[in-house]
Amino acid sequence: MTSRPTLVLIATGGTIAAATTSSTDTTGYVAGTLPAEALLAAVPAIGEVADMRVEQLFNMDSRDMGPAHWVALAQRTRAVLDDPDVAGVVITHGTDTLEESAAFLDATLSPEKPVVLTGAIRPATALSADGPVNLYDAVRVAAQPASAGRGVLVCFGGRIFAAAGVRKADTTATNAFQAPPGGVVGQTDPVRYFAPPAARPDPLPLPESADRLPRVDILYVAAGSPPEALDHAVASGARGIVLALPGNGSVPEAWREPVARAVAAGVPVVRASRVGAGPVTPDADDAELGTLPAGDRPPSAMRVLLMLVLAQAEESAP
Ligand code: SIN
Repeated sequence: MTSRPTLVLIATGGTIAAATTSSTDTTGYVAGTLPAEALLAAVPAIGEVADMRVEQLFNMDSRDMGPAHWVALAQRTRAVLDDPDVAGVVITHGTDTLEESAAFLDATLSPEKPVVLTGAIRPATALSADGPVNLYDAVRVAAQPASAGRGVLVCFGGRIFAAAGVRKADTTATNAFQAPPGGVVGQTDPVRYFAPPAARPDPLPLPESADRLPRVDILYVAAGSPPEALDHAVASGARGIVLALPGNGSVPEAWREPVARAVAAGVPVVRASRVGAGPVTPDADDAELGTLPAGDRPPSAMRVLLMLVLAQAEESAP
């Protein structure tokens, strides 16, 4: 008799849980309608890999998720992982803001067991639905002891990504996700990793409630964008700013003064890039203006991280 690991599927909605009346319609659907049980029932082969428990945490379009959902998802994931009978967690999620939830979970949990997010670009009713195979792959990844100790993972389109830095990079392609160099850590056919797990930073504190997460705004800086947007964001309550800047996080002349003003007022300003690939490297502006380079993180993930860092700083302030 073979013993299968017990995994928990935490379902949150998304296109992977969407259905339409036409098998050729891949875009006109409401995300987050099918229950978690239906997703599992569509892939009987999962029963050969793991014994699945199911939790329907939300059933929603991920565009409507925010800090309260991230906190609830992280708290539930942590509680489930604490069960000694549970070998790992699979989370189904809408792809539109999967990168934010992945960044939040990765920064706040230090899971000794696999935690794997997945989703789909096409609804469950599509001729070419990618949800069933993505779910099957995510379960196979979560069932592998070799997936432990690697932080939170995203499994999509046959590739395994480290959560840090992963981003949705295509609106409709089934291989929608991309990662910085080294961010694709493995593949699914068969499940294998390209390198042993790397050392990981200590997790940031998981706030008890989303109220503890300060507001951080992302400002997209186009050619000629008026810099007043930055003063306005600070005046209206942003406690941190992530600039999605041209190129390698290049601060336009007109933005220098407002950036310096925000930093002087105690509002950290991160230089991220609107390009979509490649790092933002440290430069002279960081010394002159007090900005922080985003490195390999996209603006979305950088915002999540800055919220958590600011929350930690506030928590430990005298
Ligand atoms: C969503 O993010 O919930 C809808 C889009 C998707 O899952 O691909």
